[in-house]
Amino acid sequence: MKMTGQTILITGGGSGIGLALARDLSAKGNQVIICGRSEHKLKAAKQACPQLEYKTCDITDESSRRHLSDFIRSEFPACNVLVNNAGVQYNYLFTDEQSHAAQIQAEININFLAQVKLTELFLPHLLKQQEAAIINVTSALAVVPKENAAVYCASKSALRTFGKALRYQLESTPVKVFEIVPALVETEMTAGRGRDKISPETVSKEAIRGIEAERYEIRIGKTKVLFALNRLLPSLAEKIIRRS
Ligand SMILES: NC(=O)c1ccc[n+]([C@@H]2O[C@H](COP(=O)([O-])OP(=O)(O)OC[C@H]3O[C@@H](n4cnc5c(N)ncnc54)[C@H](OP(=O)(O)O)[C@@H]3O)[C@@H](O)[C@H]2O)c1
Repeated sequence: MKMTGQTILITGGGSGIGLALARDLSAKGNQVIICGRSEHKLKAAKQACPQLEYKTCDITDESSRRHLSDFIRSEFPACNVLVNNAGVQYNYLFTDEQSHAAQIQAEININFLAQVKLTELFLPHLLKQQEAAIINVTSALAVVPKENAAVYCASKSALRTFGKALRYQLESTPVKVFEIVPALVETEMTAGRGRDKISPETVSKEAIRGIEAERYEIRIGKTKVLFALNRLLPSLAEKIIRRS
């Protein structure tokens, strides 16, 4: 799919991977709309890249999703690409003595349920376009989990499986379903932890190349090696990632 001349909505586009994608896609001549909960992040993004448009939205909130959908349909009716990028990760252990109910709910809601509901809301609009795409940002941790991010990893596995099955359902339609699978990236989400992180800009450039080459699963950075290792020596892959 050519990534130029498209109209693209990116959730969580005010920072990190979403912002890098927004900047690069905008520079390639696409109309890009970003959304997120914090207006200051979206405003700062627009100041740095004036071609961007933005709309505040909490994707876990049904009326907020509806406002976003109405806004896109009226202001950007040509919108033909939805990038499900918004996400959160919390690190905790179920053996802790405190409750993690709020974090568990946020991870499942933001990383999975909201993306599925947003996809359902936008699909009728996408199906009317000549060419369209849904691009899900999952994670290498969807396949090889990390000990202290159990719900995050599970939520990403759920999004990965949902995307694959949806790809089958949409095979004979104009809507293609892509999956971007990054390894560890230097963003707000991973601040203060992990080593050998790649930049959001590297993720963005590789992802765009992958989409243009019609690769439906785009493994980025060390994900390529990790997935190969997981096939050949799964116990070694698990050992490396478990406490990463
Ligand atoms: N960093 C990594 O190592 C890594 C690796 C693999 C995959 N990923 C995935 O990449 C995606 C982007 O993450 P990132 O690393 O770029 O982190 P990030 O900079 O923290 O970006 C996450 C974005 O999601 C938005 N967001 C969170 N909850 C939201 C909600 N309820 N409604 C709307 N927007 C919401 C945040 O904005 P607000 O807080 O303003 O809403 C933020 O802009 C995530 O799905 C993450 O799981 C990251």
